[in-house]
Amino acid sequence: MDDLSESDYPDTRLAAVILAAGMGTRMRSGLPKILHRVAGEPLISHVLDAAHGAGVSGVVLVVGHLRGMVMAALGDSVRYAVQEPQLGTGHALQQAMTLLNPLPDKIVVLCGDTPLLTSATVSRMIAESTGAAIVVLSAGIPDPTGYGRIVRDGIGSVAAIVEDADATAAQRSLTEINSGLYCFDGGWVAANLGKIGQSAKGEYYLTDLVALAVAQGMVVRAVLAEDPAEVMGVNDRVQLAEADRAMRDRLCRRLMASGVTIVDPATTYAGKQVSVGADTVIHPGTHLRGRTVIGERCEIGPNSIIEDSTVGDECTVLASVLERCRVAGGVSIGPFSHLRPGAEIAAGAKIGNYAEVKNSTVGEGVQMHHFSYLGDAEVGEGTNVGAGTITCNFDGRTRKKYRTRIGKNVFLGSDTLLRAPVELGDGAQTGAGAVVTKDVPAGMLAVGVPARIKQIGRGGEKPVSEETDRQGGVRGGS
Ligand code: UD1
Ligand code: CA
Repeated sequence: MDDLSESDYPDTRLAAVILAAGMGTRMRSGLPKILHRVAGEPLISHVLDAAHGAGVSGVVLVVGHLRGMVMAALGDSVRYAVQEPQLGTGHALQQAMTLLNPLPDKIVVLCGDTPLLTSATVSRMIAESTGAAIVVLSAGIPDPTGYGRIVRDGIGSVAAIVEDADATAAQRSLTEINSGLYCFDGGWVAANLGKIGQSAKGEYYLTDLVALAVAQGMVVRAVLAEDPAEVMGVNDRVQLAEADRAMRDRLCRRLMASGVTIVDPATTYAGKQVSVGADTVIHPGTHLRGRTVIGERCEIGPNSIIEDSTVGDECTVLASVLERCRVAGGVSIGPFSHLRPGAEIAAGAKIGNYAEVKNSTVGEGVQMHHFSYLGDAEVGEGTNVGAGTITCNFDGRTRKKYRTRIGKNVFLGSDTLLRAPVELGDGAQTGAGAVVTKDVPAGMLAVGVPARIKQIGRGGEKPVSEETDRQGGVRGGS
Protein backbone atom coordinates (compact mmCIF):
# COMPACT_ATOMS: atom_id res chain seq x y z
CA MET A 1 0.00 0.00 0.00
CA ASP A 2 1.15 3.51 -0.78
CA ASP A 3 2.25 5.77 2.02
CA LEU A 4 -0.32 8.41 2.72
CA SER A 5 1.13 11.88 2.40
CA GLU A 6 -0.16 14.87 4.30
CA SER A 7 -2.01 16.13 1.23
CA ASP A 8 -4.27 13.07 1.41
CA TYR A 9 -5.79 14.70 4.47
CA PRO A 10 -7.37 18.00 3.44
CA ASP A 11 -8.24 20.41 6.22
CA THR A 12 -11.65 19.08 7.14
CA ARG A 13 -12.17 21.74 9.80
CA LEU A 14 -12.66 24.42 7.15
CA ALA A 15 -14.60 24.28 3.87
CA ALA A 16 -16.03 26.77 1.43
CA VAL A 17 -19.26 26.65 -0.51
CA ILE A 18 -19.46 28.99 -3.48
CA LEU A 19 -22.96 29.76 -4.69
CA ALA A 20 -23.18 30.01 -8.46
CA ALA A 21 -26.37 28.36 -9.62
CA GLY A 22 -28.23 31.57 -10.46
CA MET A 23 -29.25 32.62 -13.95
CA GLY A 24 -27.09 35.70 -14.32
CA THR A 25 -29.91 37.05 -16.50
CA ARG A 26 -28.62 40.62 -16.68
CA MET A 27 -25.39 39.54 -18.36
CA ARG A 28 -27.53 38.62 -21.42
CA SER A 29 -25.00 35.96 -22.26
CA GLY A 30 -24.73 32.40 -23.48
CA LEU A 31 -21.70 32.06 -21.21
CA PRO A 32 -22.27 31.37 -17.50
CA LYS A 33 -21.69 34.56 -15.52
CA ILE A 34 -18.82 33.17 -13.45
CA LEU A 35 -16.85 32.33 -16.60
CA HIS A 36 -16.80 35.94 -17.77
CA ARG A 37 -13.34 37.36 -17.26
CA VAL A 38 -11.79 40.06 -15.13
CA ALA A 39 -8.06 40.78 -15.60
CA GLY A 40 -7.92 37.83 -17.97
CA GLU A 41 -9.26 35.23 -15.52
CA PRO A 42 -12.82 33.94 -15.01
CA LEU A 43 -14.71 35.58 -12.13
CA ILE A 44 -14.82 32.25 -10.31
CA SER A 45 -11.01 31.90 -10.42
CA HIS A 46 -10.61 35.10 -8.45
CA VAL A 47 -13.08 33.86 -5.83
CA LEU A 48 -11.26 30.52 -5.63
CA ASP A 49 -7.96 32.41 -5.18
CA ALA A 50 -9.47 34.32 -2.25
CA ALA A 51 -10.62 31.04 -0.63
CA HIS A 52 -7.34 29.21 -1.23
CA GLY A 53 -5.33 32.22 -0.06
CA ALA A 54 -7.22 32.10 3.25
CA GLY A 55 -6.28 28.44 3.67
CA VAL A 56 -9.60 26.95 2.60
CA SER A 57 -8.82 23.98 0.41
CA GLY A 58 -12.06 22.00 0.21
CA VAL A 59 -14.41 23.91 -2.08
CA VAL A 60 -17.90 22.92 -3.17
CA LEU A 61 -19.36 24.90 -6.05
CA VAL A 62 -23.15 25.03 -6.27
CA VAL A 63 -24.06 24.95 -9.95
CA GLY A 64 -27.36 24.97 -11.82
CA HIS A 65 -27.87 27.22 -14.79
CA LEU A 66 -25.41 26.33 -17.65
CA ARG A 67 -23.59 23.96 -15.30
CA GLY A 68 -22.19 21.83 -18.13
CA MET A 69 -20.06 24.74 -19.30
CA VAL A 70 -18.95 25.57 -15.76
CA MET A 71 -17.95 21.97 -15.06
CA ALA A 72 -16.13 21.67 -18.39
CA ALA A 73 -14.15 24.83 -17.62
CA LEU A 74 -13.21 24.03 -14.02
CA GLY A 75 -12.83 20.26 -14.25
CA ASP A 76 -12.07 18.53 -10.97
CA SER A 77 -10.44 21.55 -9.32
CA VAL A 78 -13.61 21.82 -7.18
CA ARG A 79 -16.47 19.51 -6.18
CA TYR A 80 -19.95 20.25 -7.50
CA ALA A 81 -23.38 20.30 -5.94
CA VAL A 82 -26.22 20.64 -8.41
CA GLN A 83 -29.15 22.87 -7.48
CA GLU A 84 -32.14 22.28 -9.72
CA PRO A 85 -34.53 24.10 -9.58
CA GLN A 86 -32.95 27.20 -8.02
CA LEU A 87 -35.03 28.01 -4.96
CA GLY A 88 -32.86 30.65 -3.35
CA THR A 89 -29.55 31.02 -1.50
CA GLY A 90 -30.61 28.95 1.53
CA HIS A 91 -31.73 26.11 -0.74
CA ALA A 92 -28.43 26.43 -2.64
CA LEU A 93 -26.33 25.90 0.49
CA GLN A 94 -28.49 22.95 1.45
CA GLN A 95 -27.56 21.17 -1.79
CA ALA A 96 -23.88 21.35 -0.81
CA MET A 97 -24.27 19.95 2.72
CA THR A 98 -24.16 16.25 1.85
CA LEU A 99 -20.74 16.79 0.24
CA LEU A 100 -19.41 18.30 3.47
CA ASN A 101 -18.81 15.01 5.17
CA PRO A 102 -17.34 14.88 7.78
CA LEU A 103 -18.95 18.13 8.78
CA PRO A 104 -16.36 20.95 8.95
CA ASP A 105 -16.11 23.20 12.01
CA LYS A 106 -16.49 26.28 9.82
CA ILE A 107 -18.21 26.71 6.46
CA VAL A 108 -17.36 29.82 4.49
CA VAL A 109 -20.09 30.73 2.00
CA LEU A 110 -19.02 32.87 -0.96
CA CYS A 111 -20.61 33.96 -4.23
CA GLY A 112 -19.09 33.15 -7.59
CA ASP A 113 -19.46 36.68 -8.92
CA THR A 114 -17.42 38.78 -6.44
CA PRO A 115 -13.97 38.81 -8.08
CA LEU A 116 -12.55 41.62 -5.96
CA LEU A 117 -12.83 39.70 -2.68
CA THR A 118 -9.40 39.28 -1.06
CA SER A 119 -8.05 36.37 0.94
CA ALA A 120 -7.27 38.85 3.75
CA THR A 121 -11.00 39.53 4.12
CA VAL A 122 -11.90 35.83 4.06
CA SER A 123 -9.23 35.28 6.75
CA ARG A 124 -10.76 38.06 8.86
CA MET A 125 -14.21 36.44 8.63
CA ILE A 126 -12.75 33.13 9.76
CA ALA A 127 -10.76 34.79 12.57
CA GLU A 128 -13.91 36.57 13.82
CA SER A 129 -15.98 33.39 13.81
CA THR A 130 -14.83 31.97 17.15
CA GLY A 131 -17.91 31.36 19.27
CA ALA A 132 -20.28 32.72 16.63
CA ALA A 133 -23.00 30.83 14.78
CA ILE A 134 -22.74 33.29 11.89
CA VAL A 135 -20.25 35.89 10.76
CA VAL A 136 -21.62 38.01 7.94
CA LEU A 137 -19.44 40.26 5.83
CA SER A 138 -21.08 43.67 5.56
CA ALA A 139 -20.15 46.86 3.74
CA GLY A 140 -21.05 50.49 3.97
CA ILE A 141 -22.18 51.79 0.61
CA PRO A 142 -23.84 55.10 -0.29
CA ASP A 143 -26.47 53.55 -2.58
CA PRO A 144 -27.67 50.32 -0.97
CA THR A 145 -30.61 49.82 -3.35
CA GLY A 146 -31.18 46.15 -4.15
CA TYR A 147 -29.07 44.77 -1.31
CA GLY A 148 -30.18 43.12 1.90
CA ARG A 149 -29.69 45.49 4.88
CA ILE A 150 -28.02 44.65 8.19
CA VAL A 151 -30.52 45.53 10.92
CA ARG A 152 -28.98 46.15 14.34
CA ASP A 153 -30.68 46.33 17.74
CA GLY A 154 -30.52 49.14 20.33
CA ILE A 155 -26.99 48.21 21.46
CA GLY A 156 -25.63 47.70 17.95
CA SER A 157 -25.77 43.91 17.79
CA VAL A 158 -26.87 42.31 14.52
CA ALA A 159 -30.58 41.47 14.77
CA ALA A 160 -31.54 40.45 11.23
CA ILE A 161 -30.92 40.85 7.52
CA VAL A 162 -33.87 42.30 5.65
CA GLU A 163 -34.09 41.99 1.86
CA ASP A 164 -34.59 45.21 -0.09
CA ALA A 165 -38.01 44.12 -1.33
CA ASP A 166 -39.21 43.28 2.19
CA ALA A 167 -37.69 46.31 3.95
CA THR A 168 -39.63 49.12 5.64
CA ALA A 169 -38.83 52.70 4.58
CA ALA A 170 -36.70 53.12 7.71
CA GLN A 171 -34.78 49.88 6.99
CA ARG A 172 -34.28 50.92 3.40
CA SER A 173 -32.36 53.99 4.55
CA LEU A 174 -29.75 51.78 6.26
CA THR A 175 -26.47 51.84 4.36
CA GLU A 176 -24.79 48.80 5.91
CA ILE A 177 -25.49 46.06 3.40
CA ASN A 178 -25.18 42.29 3.39
CA SER A 179 -22.42 41.21 1.03
CA GLY A 180 -23.92 37.72 0.81
CA LEU A 181 -20.67 36.23 2.14
CA TYR A 182 -20.62 34.38 5.47
CA CYS A 183 -18.68 32.15 7.79
CA PHE A 184 -21.02 29.68 9.52
CA ASP A 185 -20.44 27.33 12.41
CA GLY A 186 -20.69 23.96 10.66
CA GLY A 187 -22.74 22.15 13.29
CA TRP A 188 -25.12 25.03 13.81
CA VAL A 189 -25.85 25.63 10.12
CA ALA A 190 -26.32 21.90 9.44
CA ALA A 191 -28.91 21.74 12.21
CA ASN A 192 -30.77 24.91 11.22
CA LEU A 193 -30.68 25.18 7.42
CA GLY A 194 -33.85 23.09 7.15
CA LYS A 195 -35.74 25.51 9.39
CA ILE A 196 -35.75 28.36 6.85
CA GLY A 197 -39.28 29.12 5.71
CA GLN A 198 -40.38 29.97 2.19
CA SER A 199 -40.46 33.62 1.15
CA ALA A 200 -43.39 35.27 -0.60
CA LYS A 201 -41.57 34.41 -3.87
CA GLY A 202 -41.32 30.76 -2.84
CA GLU A 203 -37.57 30.95 -2.17
CA TYR A 204 -35.46 29.96 0.82
CA TYR A 205 -33.35 32.92 1.93
CA LEU A 206 -30.01 32.19 3.56
CA THR A 207 -30.31 35.60 5.20
CA ASP A 208 -33.22 34.33 7.34
CA LEU A 209 -30.68 32.34 9.37
CA VAL A 210 -29.54 35.55 11.05
CA ALA A 211 -32.83 36.28 12.81
CA LEU A 212 -33.14 32.57 13.62
CA ALA A 213 -29.73 32.49 15.33
CA VAL A 214 -30.48 35.68 17.23
CA ALA A 215 -33.79 34.21 18.45
CA GLN A 216 -31.86 31.17 19.73
CA GLY A 217 -29.49 33.45 21.64
CA MET A 218 -26.56 32.56 19.39
CA VAL A 219 -23.78 35.01 18.56
CA VAL A 220 -24.01 36.71 15.15
CA ARG A 221 -21.25 39.12 14.10
CA ALA A 222 -21.01 41.47 11.15
CA VAL A 223 -17.49 42.11 9.87
CA LEU A 224 -17.31 45.34 7.87
CA ALA A 225 -15.36 45.10 4.61
CA GLU A 226 -12.51 47.64 4.66
CA ASP A 227 -12.99 48.30 0.97
CA PRO A 228 -16.65 48.09 -0.11
CA ALA A 229 -15.47 47.36 -3.68
CA GLU A 230 -14.40 43.93 -2.44
CA VAL A 231 -17.97 42.75 -2.10
CA MET A 232 -19.07 44.20 -5.41
CA GLY A 233 -20.99 41.53 -7.28
CA VAL A 234 -20.91 41.49 -11.06
CA ASN A 235 -24.47 41.38 -12.37
CA ASP A 236 -24.18 43.00 -15.79
CA ARG A 237 -21.56 44.03 -18.34
CA VAL A 238 -21.21 47.52 -16.88
CA GLN A 239 -20.26 46.05 -13.51
CA LEU A 240 -17.98 43.59 -15.31
CA ALA A 241 -16.04 46.51 -16.80
CA GLU A 242 -15.98 48.27 -13.42
CA ALA A 243 -14.64 45.16 -11.72
CA ASP A 244 -12.03 44.76 -14.43
CA ARG A 245 -10.87 48.32 -13.99
CA ALA A 246 -10.71 47.93 -10.20
CA MET A 247 -8.78 44.66 -10.47
CA ARG A 248 -6.40 46.12 -13.04
CA ASP A 249 -5.78 49.10 -10.81
CA ARG A 250 -5.06 46.79 -7.87
CA LEU A 251 -2.61 44.70 -9.90
CA CYS A 252 -0.81 47.78 -11.24
CA ARG A 253 -0.50 49.19 -7.73
CA ARG A 254 1.03 45.93 -6.57
CA LEU A 255 3.68 46.14 -9.32
CA MET A 256 4.36 49.81 -8.63
CA ALA A 257 4.77 49.04 -4.93
CA SER A 258 7.46 46.52 -5.87
CA GLY A 259 9.49 49.09 -7.82
CA VAL A 260 8.04 48.99 -11.33
CA THR A 261 7.28 52.24 -13.17
CA ILE A 262 3.91 52.12 -14.92
CA VAL A 263 3.58 55.19 -17.08
CA ASP A 264 -0.19 54.87 -17.52
CA PRO A 265 -1.96 52.36 -15.24
CA ALA A 266 -5.25 53.03 -17.06
CA THR A 267 -3.89 51.41 -20.23
CA THR A 268 -1.69 48.76 -18.64
CA TYR A 269 -3.08 45.25 -18.23
CA ALA A 270 -1.09 42.96 -15.96
CA GLY A 271 -2.52 39.58 -14.98
CA LYS A 272 -2.46 38.17 -11.47
CA GLN A 273 0.40 35.75 -12.03
CA VAL A 274 2.67 38.28 -13.73
CA SER A 275 5.91 39.32 -12.04
CA VAL A 276 8.06 42.27 -13.09
CA GLY A 277 11.52 43.20 -11.78
CA ALA A 278 12.44 46.51 -10.17
CA ASP A 279 13.17 49.57 -12.30
CA THR A 280 11.44 48.15 -15.32
CA VAL A 281 9.33 50.76 -17.11
CA ILE A 282 6.01 49.69 -18.58
CA HIS A 283 4.72 52.03 -21.26
CA PRO A 284 1.04 52.52 -22.23
CA GLY A 285 -0.91 49.91 -24.12
CA THR A 286 0.98 46.97 -22.66
CA HIS A 287 -0.70 43.65 -21.85
CA LEU A 288 1.17 41.20 -19.63
CA ARG A 289 -0.76 37.94 -19.48
CA GLY A 290 -0.63 34.48 -17.98
CA ARG A 291 2.55 33.28 -16.33
CA THR A 292 4.76 36.05 -17.61
CA VAL A 293 7.99 36.99 -15.87
CA ILE A 294 9.82 40.20 -16.81
CA GLY A 295 13.28 41.02 -15.44
CA GLU A 296 14.74 44.22 -14.03
CA ARG A 297 15.53 47.47 -15.86
CA CYS A 298 13.52 46.58 -18.97
CA GLU A 299 11.55 48.93 -21.20
CA ILE A 300 8.29 47.23 -22.14
CA GLY A 301 5.89 48.83 -24.65
CA PRO A 302 4.29 51.02 -25.75
CA ASN A 303 1.81 48.62 -27.30
CA SER A 304 3.22 45.19 -26.52
CA ILE A 305 1.45 41.94 -25.66
CA ILE A 306 3.44 39.38 -23.68
CA GLU A 307 1.79 36.10 -22.74
CA ASP A 308 3.18 33.13 -20.79
CA SER A 309 6.72 34.28 -21.53
CA THR A 310 9.97 35.00 -19.70
CA VAL A 311 11.98 38.12 -20.48
CA GLY A 312 15.41 38.68 -18.85
CA ASP A 313 16.95 41.84 -17.40
CA GLU A 314 17.60 44.96 -19.45
CA CYS A 315 15.49 44.03 -22.46
CA THR A 316 13.41 46.32 -24.63
CA VAL A 317 10.16 45.14 -26.17
CA LEU A 318 8.62 47.80 -28.39
CA ALA A 319 5.26 47.35 -30.10
CA SER A 320 5.64 43.58 -30.32
CA VAL A 321 3.82 40.36 -29.48
CA LEU A 322 5.48 37.56 -27.47
CA GLU A 323 3.74 34.24 -26.84
CA ARG A 324 5.09 31.30 -24.84
CA CYS A 325 8.71 32.23 -25.50
CA ARG A 326 11.92 32.79 -23.53
CA VAL A 327 14.10 35.82 -23.93
CA ALA A 328 17.45 36.20 -22.12
CA GLY A 329 18.97 39.45 -20.84
CA GLY A 330 19.92 42.48 -22.92
CA VAL A 331 17.74 41.54 -25.87
CA SER A 332 16.04 44.17 -28.01
CA ILE A 333 12.76 43.25 -29.70
CA GLY A 334 10.72 45.31 -32.13
CA PRO A 335 9.20 47.45 -33.25
CA PHE A 336 6.60 45.10 -34.77
CA SER A 337 8.09 41.71 -34.03
CA HIS A 338 6.25 38.50 -33.25
CA LEU A 339 7.85 35.84 -31.09
CA ARG A 340 5.69 32.76 -31.26
CA PRO A 341 5.63 29.64 -29.07
CA GLY A 342 8.98 27.96 -28.65
CA ALA A 343 11.11 30.99 -29.57
CA GLU A 344 14.24 31.11 -27.39
CA ILE A 345 16.37 34.19 -27.75
CA ALA A 346 19.83 34.27 -26.16
CA ALA A 347 21.50 37.26 -24.51
CA GLY A 348 22.16 40.42 -26.46
CA ALA A 349 20.29 39.40 -29.60
CA LYS A 350 18.45 42.00 -31.65
CA ILE A 351 15.14 40.96 -33.16
CA GLY A 352 14.15 43.93 -35.19
CA ASN A 353 11.42 45.38 -37.35
CA TYR A 354 8.81 42.98 -38.66
CA ALA A 355 10.68 39.87 -37.56
CA GLU A 356 8.94 36.61 -36.70
CA VAL A 357 10.48 33.70 -34.78
CA LYS A 358 8.70 30.42 -34.08
CA ASN A 359 9.97 27.27 -32.38
CA SER A 360 13.58 28.34 -32.87
CA THR A 361 16.65 29.03 -30.78
CA VAL A 362 18.49 32.22 -31.60
CA GLY A 363 22.07 32.45 -30.28
CA GLU A 364 23.86 35.16 -28.36
CA GLY A 365 24.30 38.46 -30.13
CA VAL A 366 22.41 37.41 -33.26
CA GLN A 367 21.28 40.36 -35.35
CA MET A 368 17.98 39.89 -37.12
CA HIS A 369 16.83 43.31 -38.09
CA HIS A 370 14.39 43.49 -40.95
CA PHE A 371 11.41 41.58 -42.37
CA SER A 372 12.59 38.07 -41.62
CA TYR A 373 11.15 34.74 -40.49
CA LEU A 374 12.81 31.93 -38.57
CA GLY A 375 10.66 28.81 -38.07
CA ASP A 376 11.95 25.50 -36.68
CA ALA A 377 15.51 26.82 -36.79
CA GLU A 378 18.69 26.96 -34.71
CA VAL A 379 20.88 29.99 -35.19
CA GLY A 380 24.39 30.08 -33.68
CA GLU A 381 25.86 33.04 -31.81
CA GLY A 382 27.05 36.10 -33.65
CA THR A 383 25.15 35.29 -36.83
CA ASN A 384 23.74 38.10 -38.97
CA VAL A 385 20.31 37.35 -40.41
CA GLY A 386 20.03 39.64 -43.42
CA ALA A 387 16.94 41.62 -44.33
CA GLY A 388 14.16 39.47 -45.73
CA THR A 389 15.74 36.14 -44.77
CA ILE A 390 13.15 33.37 -44.64
CA THR A 391 13.31 29.76 -43.49
CA CYS A 392 11.11 27.78 -45.85
CA ASN A 393 10.26 25.29 -43.10
CA PHE A 394 7.04 23.91 -44.51
CA ASP A 395 7.07 21.51 -47.44
CA GLY A 396 3.76 21.96 -49.21
CA ARG A 397 4.11 18.62 -50.99
CA THR A 398 4.76 16.38 -47.96
CA ARG A 399 2.88 18.80 -45.67
CA LYS A 400 5.67 18.44 -43.12
CA LYS A 401 7.89 20.92 -41.34
CA TYR A 402 11.66 20.65 -41.44
CA ARG A 403 14.48 22.20 -39.43
CA THR A 404 17.12 24.68 -40.48
CA ARG A 405 20.49 24.67 -38.68
CA ILE A 406 22.63 27.77 -38.97
CA GLY A 407 26.06 27.84 -37.30
CA LYS A 408 27.95 30.56 -35.48
CA ASN A 409 29.02 33.84 -37.10
CA VAL A 410 27.16 33.04 -40.30
CA PHE A 411 26.38 35.95 -42.62
CA LEU A 412 23.06 35.58 -44.42
CA GLY A 413 22.74 38.05 -47.29
CA SER A 414 19.53 40.00 -47.83
CA ASP A 415 16.59 37.97 -49.06
CA THR A 416 18.17 34.58 -48.44
CA LEU A 417 15.68 31.72 -48.66
CA LEU A 418 16.67 28.63 -46.70
CA ARG A 419 14.76 25.56 -47.91
CA ALA A 420 14.59 23.15 -44.99
CA PRO A 421 15.91 20.69 -44.10
CA VAL A 422 19.19 22.49 -44.57
CA GLU A 423 22.33 23.18 -42.57
CA LEU A 424 24.87 26.02 -42.76
CA GLY A 425 28.23 25.53 -41.02
CA ASP A 426 30.01 28.07 -38.82
CA GLY A 427 31.22 31.14 -40.66
CA ALA A 428 29.27 30.34 -43.82
CA GLN A 429 27.91 33.15 -45.97
CA THR A 430 25.09 33.54 -48.46
CA GLY A 431 24.74 36.06 -51.22
CA ALA A 432 21.79 38.43 -51.45
CA GLY A 433 18.82 36.62 -52.94
CA ALA A 434 20.38 33.16 -52.53
CA VAL A 435 17.94 30.26 -52.50
CA VAL A 436 19.76 27.70 -50.40
CA THR A 437 18.56 24.15 -51.10
CA LYS A 438 21.68 22.21 -50.05
CA ASP A 439 23.88 22.26 -46.97
CA VAL A 440 26.61 24.91 -46.92
CA PRO A 441 29.80 23.69 -45.25
CA ALA A 442 31.54 25.84 -42.65
CA GLY A 443 33.35 28.84 -44.10
CA MET A 444 31.79 28.45 -47.58
CA LEU A 445 29.68 30.85 -49.63
CA ALA A 446 26.33 30.08 -51.25
CA VAL A 447 25.11 32.29 -54.09
CA GLY A 448 22.38 32.23 -56.70
CA VAL A 449 19.17 30.41 -57.45
CA PRO A 450 19.36 27.61 -56.59
CA ALA A 451 22.48 28.49 -54.63
CA ARG A 452 25.86 27.06 -55.60
CA ILE A 453 28.60 26.59 -53.09
CA LYS A 454 31.86 28.53 -53.52
CA GLN A 455 34.96 29.34 -51.52
CA ILE A 456 34.90 32.61 -49.68
CA GLY A 457 37.96 34.26 -51.24
CA ARG A 458 39.49 37.68 -51.42
CA GLY A 459 37.79 38.18 -54.80
CA GLY A 460 40.11 35.76 -56.63
CA GLU A 461 37.69 32.91 -57.21
CA LYS A 462 35.69 32.75 -60.40
CA PRO A 463 31.97 33.34 -60.10
CA VAL A 464 29.84 30.45 -61.34
CA SER A 465 28.28 32.77 -63.92
CA GLU A 466 27.86 36.49 -64.45
CA GLU A 467 24.22 36.20 -63.49
CA THR A 468 24.71 34.49 -60.15
CA ASP A 469 27.49 36.95 -59.41
CA ARG A 470 25.07 39.83 -59.83
CA GLN A 471 22.61 38.16 -57.51
CA GLY A 472 25.39 37.23 -55.16
CA GLY A 473 27.73 39.40 -53.20
CA VAL A 474 27.56 39.25 -49.46
CA ARG A 475 25.77 42.50 -48.82
CA GLY A 476 23.22 41.87 -46.10
CA GLY A 477 20.85 44.42 -44.67
CA SER A 478 21.98 45.50 -41.24
C1 UD1 B 1 -28.31 38.17 -1.94
C2 UD1 B 1 -28.72 38.36 -0.48
C3 UD1 B 1 -28.70 39.84 -0.14
C4 UD1 B 1 -27.34 40.41 -0.42
C5 UD1 B 1 -26.92 40.12 -1.85
C6 UD1 B 1 -25.48 40.52 -2.07
C7 UD1 B 1 -30.32 36.55 -0.06
C8 UD1 B 1 -31.73 36.18 0.10
N1 UD1 B 1 -30.05 37.82 -0.30
O1 UD1 B 1 -29.29 38.79 -2.73
O2 UD1 B 1 -29.02 40.03 1.23
O3 UD1 B 1 -27.33 41.80 -0.17
O4 UD1 B 1 -27.02 38.71 -2.13
O5 UD1 B 1 -25.14 40.41 -3.42
O6 UD1 B 1 -29.45 35.69 0.04
N2 UD1 B 1 -27.74 31.54 -6.04
C9 UD1 B 1 -27.81 30.17 -6.17
N3 UD1 B 1 -29.02 29.56 -6.14
C10 UD1 B 1 -30.17 30.24 -5.98
C11 UD1 B 1 -30.10 31.65 -5.86
C12 UD1 B 1 -28.86 32.26 -5.88
O7 UD1 B 1 -26.77 29.50 -6.31
O8 UD1 B 1 -31.22 29.62 -5.96
C13 UD1 B 1 -26.44 32.18 -6.09
C14 UD1 B 1 -26.29 33.14 -7.23
O9 UD1 B 1 -25.76 32.48 -8.37
C15 UD1 B 1 -25.35 34.19 -6.68
C16 UD1 B 1 -25.64 34.19 -5.18
O10 UD1 B 1 -26.29 32.96 -4.92
O11 UD1 B 1 -23.99 33.81 -6.84
C17 UD1 B 1 -26.51 35.35 -4.77
O12 UD1 B 1 -27.76 35.24 -5.44
P1 UD1 B 1 -28.56 36.50 -5.94
O13 UD1 B 1 -29.80 36.04 -6.60
O14 UD1 B 1 -27.67 37.40 -6.70
O15 UD1 B 1 -28.95 37.16 -4.55
P2 UD1 B 1 -29.47 38.60 -4.32
O16 UD1 B 1 -30.90 38.65 -4.61
O17 UD1 B 1 -28.59 39.57 -5.01
CA1 CA C 1 -26.72 39.49 -6.67
